[in-house]
Amino acid sequence: MSTRQRSKSLRALVLTTSIGMFPSVRHWIPVWACLAAVILAPASSTVAASDPQSDVESRRQWTVLHRDIAEFKQARGRTRIDERARMWTGSHGGGPTWQEMVAQTHRQASLIFESDRDPLDIVLRRTEAMLQHLASLPRARNLEPLQRELSAFQSDARAVPPGDPARQALFDGLIALRRRVALANPLLDFASILFIKRSFCGGPGGETDGDHMVPQFWGRNGMSGGKAGGLFVLENAFTAKPRLRDVLAGSVCRNGPLQGKPLPPGGFLSPELSFDGKQVLFAYCEKGGKVFHLFRVAIDGGGLEQLSDGSWNDFDPCQLPDGRIAFISERRGGVGRCFGWLSPTYTLHRMDADGSNIRPLSVHETNEWQPSLAHDGRIVYTRWDYVDRGFNQAHHPWVTMPDGRNPRAPHGNYGLSPRLRPFMEIGVRAVPGSSRFIATATGHHYQAYGSLVLLDFSVPDDGAMAQVKRLTPEAYFPEAETREKGDRQLYATARPLSEDFWLCVYDADGTADRGEKNRFGIYLADAFGNKELLYLDPDISCLSPIPLAARSRPPVIPSPLADDALNPTRPTAPAATVSVMNVYDSRRAWPAGTTIKALRIVQVLPRPNSRPHKDEPRIGYAMDNGARSVLGTVPVESDGSAQFGVPAGKPLYFQALDARGLAVQSMRSDAYFQAGEVDVCQGCHEDPNRAPPPRSGLPLALRRAPSRIEPEPDGSNPLSFPRLVQPVLDARCVACHAKSPKAPDLSAGPVEKKGRPWSVDSRWSTSYTNLGPYTHYYDCGPGDWNRWVASNTIPGQFGARASKLFQLLDKGHYDVGLSPQELHRITLWLDANAQFFGS
Ligand code: HEC
Ligand code: HEC
Repeated sequence: MSTRQRSKSLRALVLTTSIGMFPSVRHWIPVWACLAAVILAPASSTVAASDPQSDVESRRQWTVLHRDIAEFKQARGRTRIDERARMWTGSHGGGPTWQEMVAQTHRQASLIFESDRDPLDIVLRRTEAMLQHLASLPRARNLEPLQRELSAFQSDARAVPPGDPARQALFDGLIALRRRVALANPLLDFASILFIKRSFCGGPGGETDGDHMVPQFWGRNGMSGGKAGGLFVLENAFTAKPRLRDVLAGSVCRNGPLQGKPLPPGGFLSPELSFDGKQVLFAYCEKGGKVFHLFRVAIDGGGLEQLSDGSWNDFDPCQLPDGRIAFISERRGGVGRCFGWLSPTYTLHRMDADGSNIRPLSVHETNEWQPSLAHDGRIVYTRWDYVDRGFNQAHHPWVTMPDGRNPRAPHGNYGLSPRLRPFMEIGVRAVPGSSRFIATATGHHYQAYGSLVLLDFSVPDDGAMAQVKRLTPEAYFPEAETREKGDRQLYATARPLSEDFWLCVYDADGTADRGEKNRFGIYLADAFGNKELLYLDPDISCLSPIPLAARSRPPVIPSPLADDALNPTRPTAPAATVSVMNVYDSRRAWPAGTTIKALRIVQVLPRPNSRPHKDEPRIGYAMDNGARSVLGTVPVESDGSAQFGVPAGKPLYFQALDARGLAVQSMRSDAYFQAGEVDVCQGCHEDPNRAPPPRSGLPLALRRAPSRIEPEPDGSNPLSFPRLVQPVLDARCVACHAKSPKAPDLSAGPVEKKGRPWSVDSRWSTSYTNLGPYTHYYDCGPGDWNRWVASNTIPGQFGARASKLFQLLDKGHYDVGLSPQELHRITLWLDANAQFFGS
């Protein structure tokens, strides 16, 4: 008997066995028989021809599981961690150790064990796990008939040894059965799926062509490979006869530049469904265009309207409970610091339902992505938190009020090492019926495809994996654990149905073939490792599947802000009032005997568009660092409290100063406040996982009027070495140093660049260049294994206090005789990351 004959007869055998034993399954036979066809090709005249070969998906999963078996064999052998080797910048990659993998995986069924001899063993086990779980759900269907069929497969499998080709035939039959089990999920209480078609970005320009966390969302990269996308509904998605509908097929735009016309071919991004499931918001950029604009259309294709226009990318709309729309936009201004090209910063914005009153919710200095709603009505999104730390270190979930108040990082912002947790988490979505969130773990030099994770902000963040569970353990975390750029970008845009089931796009070969060759299909996937293909277009990838149904509307969080609070062109800019209850309330110990006398308020300045190239000019010693203005100081009372006004709509950070005006603690994130906002902070910074300690009576600072910010000396706003520090050097140091060949030249003359490292900017002064080795500053470089600087600031161990220059002057340096004011100019400069240029 040939292999083929044999596998055929075995399948027949399986079928007969099932029917013979369980007559009740008889009515499923036609479904069973046509399932292979359904898997790949939703039968409909409107569907682009899918692969006619019926078993293709089953074969693909067979091959992929073989690959996973080999990978997991390696993983089980990995006990010692070569941390350096895990970076893609290093020579060899590698995932977590087996112990880590087991501990970090949400459902063990998604792992592969020694007892899994081949793909049949794996899928039998995973189908069983899914079936057991489905049976435990509320509204569970009667799964006994399916369970009996599965048992039949289990006993058939026992009879055929691994390696026997008959096992592959069994596998094909099992995949068909598994599909019926998966579709018996009571969470599938919707019939259709909304999604877009969009290619994985790739092109000769590499990162500028979209293969990077920032440029992937530029409109000019909306049509990778020249393929126009679209907005579609897969109707009857879970039946044998799904039907594909092009939502915009008959749509004509009723306003804007395209009034009276259909949308020309172009790129699509970020669909969002209204709460009633009847309207779709999406981003679109016409072919050859540069930027995405926002549009809205009814789900039947009616009422197409353009909501935003202009020269900015506007995308990622998020329907807010009050009817407004949060979205991501470049309108806030500023460009990225560490790019070799012009890379506009995009952050969280808001518009009214009709597209009017566009306002920045966030004035953060670097990029933000993909807002969605938490169950409590707050916005969850991803922020690149890049103030005085490595560019690779923090792009994790943040939460903010829908009016832009109180942005905070509940997770991932303070990694202990680059390899211990995902580099980036994007596409964060609240899981229905759970306090957890699902997200895609990916890398900085990657697109928003990667490994899926479950995030739990209710447990304390340990700077590693405490809050993270792997949902797809075969997909290592891109960049943190993978071998080479592009590896393991298997999943994206997960829409959770529960902690265990979701819709997503998946490509088993994810980026093995980079760029537009990838074909992400729409899958119903689960935490037990099962993946059911629902739709695949062989010509272009799919993205962002959304259950087409009404969903519950989170509460509207009332805003205390005035109507025009977010208007940046408001004629007068009312301040916000901020108080700190007790600066000493800190997670990290203060140096012994510390008394905090004041808070320093520093404004982070966005990089202007006129200087798009990285380090052009280099602001200071730290690579890719941002310029800043020291706004001044406010007093801290003896009980550690402070109350003060700050300008609204500016990215600010705070430092705690001791009696000598030296910074003892500093933020390396920015906070911002909306006009008229009254914000209360507990400490500097307290443990976020516990309530503030009880106190008797009002803090001293709250018994008086808010302090006004007292400016610091000339040359601090903006921070400028030539104006702040050089006058002191000229008066106190230059002459004596000129007499000693051993003393560094501290004169203001231009630096002699010859023989200096590349990192010295030819526009710096001699004095600035020569003082470099005596300073302490935070770099914004790669933050890779070799240069990782923890993103937590340790009190007393940075800036002036940690610098050789201050130590030398403090100890007494010859007869330098600096006045306290003169010394303060030097320490202020050291505490503000020791930069040269102020703007
Ligand atoms: C100088 C002491 C200090 C004061 C006062 C302070 N912060 Fe911070 N802040 C820090 C430190 C330190 C961090 C870094 C967190 C860490 O390492 O634990 C931080 C981090 C942050 C972050 C980053 C994200 C996060 O949630 O960790 C935000 C946002 C923030 N602070 C906002 C505020 C606001 C709002 C106030 C109230 C006015 C405030 N901070 C007062 C020291 C301070
Ligand atoms: C009265 C003379 C004198 C004055 C004033 C003086 N220095 Fe110096 N300084 C020296 C001499 C001599 C050396 C070289 C020998 C040594 O390192 O002690 C030196 C060395 C240094 C060094 C290098 C130290 C090392 O270990 O490599 C620094 C930094 C420095 N001075 C900073 C300053 C600054 C800043 C000022 C002004 C605020 C200043 N000095 C004022 C005499 C002086």
